[in-house]
Amino acid sequence: MSDSVDRQTLHDRLAPHGQEHLLAFWDELDAAGRSQLAAQIAAIDLPLIDSLYRGDVDQPDWAELSRRAAPPPAMRLAERLAGKASSLGITPAEATARGREALAAGEIGVLLVAGGQGSRLGFEKPKSLYPIGPISGATLLQIHVEKCRAIAARYEKSAPLYLMTSPATHDDTVAFLAEHDNLGLPDDDLLVFCQGTMPAVDASTGKLLLSEKGALFQSPDGHGGTVAALAASGAIEHMRRRGVKHLFYFQVDNPLAPICDPEFVGYHLLAESELTSLAVAKSAPEDKLGNFVLIDNRLNVIEYSDFPADVAQQLDSSGNLKFWAGSVAIHMFDVAFLEKSLTLKDSLPFHVANKKVPFIDPAGERIEPTKPNALKFERFIFDLLPHAARPIVVEYAEEDSFAPLKNAPGAPKDTPEYVQRFMFDQAHRWLAAAGAEVSPGVNVEISPLWALDAADVRQRVDRSTKLDKSQYLAPG
Ligand code: UD1
Repeated sequence: MSDSVDRQTLHDRLAPHGQEHLLAFWDELDAAGRSQLAAQIAAIDLPLIDSLYRGDVDQPDWAELSRRAAPPPAMRLAERLAGKASSLGITPAEATARGREALAAGEIGVLLVAGGQGSRLGFEKPKSLYPIGPISGATLLQIHVEKCRAIAARYEKSAPLYLMTSPATHDDTVAFLAEHDNLGLPDDDLLVFCQGTMPAVDASTGKLLLSEKGALFQSPDGHGGTVAALAASGAIEHMRRRGVKHLFYFQVDNPLAPICDPEFVGYHLLAESELTSLAVAKSAPEDKLGNFVLIDNRLNVIEYSDFPADVAQQLDSSGNLKFWAGSVAIHMFDVAFLEKSLTLKDSLPFHVANKKVPFIDPAGERIEPTKPNALKFERFIFDLLPHAARPIVVEYAEEDSFAPLKNAPGAPKDTPEYVQRFMFDQAHRWLAAAGAEVSPGVNVEISPLWALDAADVRQRVDRSTKLDKSQYLAPG
């Protein structure tokens, strides 16, 4: 195909949608630039972009839905700690036993989403490579992988890790893993796959934005893109071959994620839930957490940015937050449910966000906007909740499950120092529960390969153990 035909074909495709400006710099591009731009244009669903911009794709009225929402039924922490059967009639002991059985049978996989760009953190590399270990300097990814390895050792069966990257994080992540021998994971226990992207449009005109003269601005399509990416990458096929039927899903920013905690896995299985979610009790109405709510008898997450302040502030008859259940983005998914969701129309709608996006203007100048100028489109995986059969919510203590790295130093919460304090505190609690003494002012970090949980720590230390200098407890 000659260049001129190429250009004409592209023009014919773009013009009905008013997007032919994308070819404004065509004559300045070399062959590689032209083919890159042509491939990007070919991949865009132009009618979808049109309708997202025009707003014909239904955006739910979250404020109205919030006002008629109810708190979700859930297995509350106090009941779990008391060993009581929940409203589902499942005791923690039964759940734990069932979870262990499934892990030992190799039916559980781990799905880690690491495609976000971590721009709030001000870290240039993928967030997964942030050296969060307070003493060890271990990256977030190393901590997660060590948990997977500890699980494999404990159950004598591995839970394969499905690691989702995005074009922004893929190459660095893959290079890091290659350089570090997959952080010790056998090849067949790790599958890295890349999520898709979406372009952005100018908020006032609906025109697609260029990031360079020969490239569209593209950003990850949201963690809702996980489902399509799992299918396209062959990961579902891998699960089938390995007999993986359920996935423990979590976000890369949370080193406290209790990966494959058998009790959590067990509730999911015994309740025959297609989608089980882990919640923490919000400490304040304005916590930046998705809210689990029941709307028309269906479980939903309403994102913190969509949840009206007056609803978030409502109290129940005991004076506690009525909408207490904050999402820490940890779920168990049935693989069969994820596959089914691929066939459900609109099960993962796009959310539209107004953001600052640098772009090339018609004169070919790069513009760095100072206020939001563009619409970005993302899918959220938790939108699958209302489609799931028998979804359940299980409450965990925040100190045992959630310390996300989101913000650069100086912010009030979710900074490196904040996360590291949670890591030390958890290690100290586990050591204290095993009878060990940690001297005042001393900080101890624990590698998941040394102890995955409090029970492991009890095997390693006793009342005669005294730790009087800061240290990293790791095997070898
Ligand atoms: C997110 C959740 C929120 C939850 C909170 C818990 C959304 C929209 N909201 O908020 O309900 O309470 O986490 O920490 O997710 N990611 C991808 N690909 C993408 C986008 C994100 O892999 O295209 C991953 C990122 O790597 C990141 C995570 O998803 O680890 C969350 O993204 P982030 O932008 O940090 O979401 P929050 O606003 O913190």
